[in-house]
Amino acid sequence: MQRTTSLTVNNKKLRVEADPDASLLSVLRNDLELTGSKYGCGEGECGACTVLIDGQPAKSCVTRLRQVSGKKKITTIEGLEQDGRLHPLQEAFLEFDALQCGFCTSGMIMAGVALLNKNSRPRREEIVRSMNGNICRCCTYPRIVAAIERASRATKEGS
Ligand code: FES
Ligand code: FES
Repeated sequence: MQRTTSLTVNNKKLRVEADPDASLLSVLRNDLELTGSKYGCGEGECGACTVLIDGQPAKSCVTRLRQVSGKKKITTIEGLEQDGRLHPLQEAFLEFDALQCGFCTSGMIMAGVALLNKNSRPRREEIVRSMNGNICRCCTYPRIVAAIERASRATKEGS
């Protein structure tokens, strides 16, 4: 059954008409036209749909709309840019060519951003551990890890 739900997405307060049991991913993609988050497995296994909810990485394919209504802050890949500039991790992905088909990329970046927000100087093992829930079928893992390390340095240099 369709209901009106209030959401905060990328710092904008929005209202959507949708089934409260719909997945957050389907609402983002189909109702809000935020198609950066991808549908991979649909079962919480691959991480392609990762967004931030109150700063924590979350698989939006297994998050129900009802769970994020109201004051929770949702950030998608479209919300990372600030003042027309890409996030340092987005820049680092470009610099290190950390993608092939790009299907996993927005989820990887969101998971990486969550890590860097929590720990701006993660060790390599921490990066690998915290990216465990994100799968890249093109196997660009070494370049993804290198990009996160680069963004970590960039954040440090800029601070
Ligand atoms: Fe959500 Fe795979 S599409 S985890
Ligand atoms: Fe293709 Fe990761 S770049 S799935």
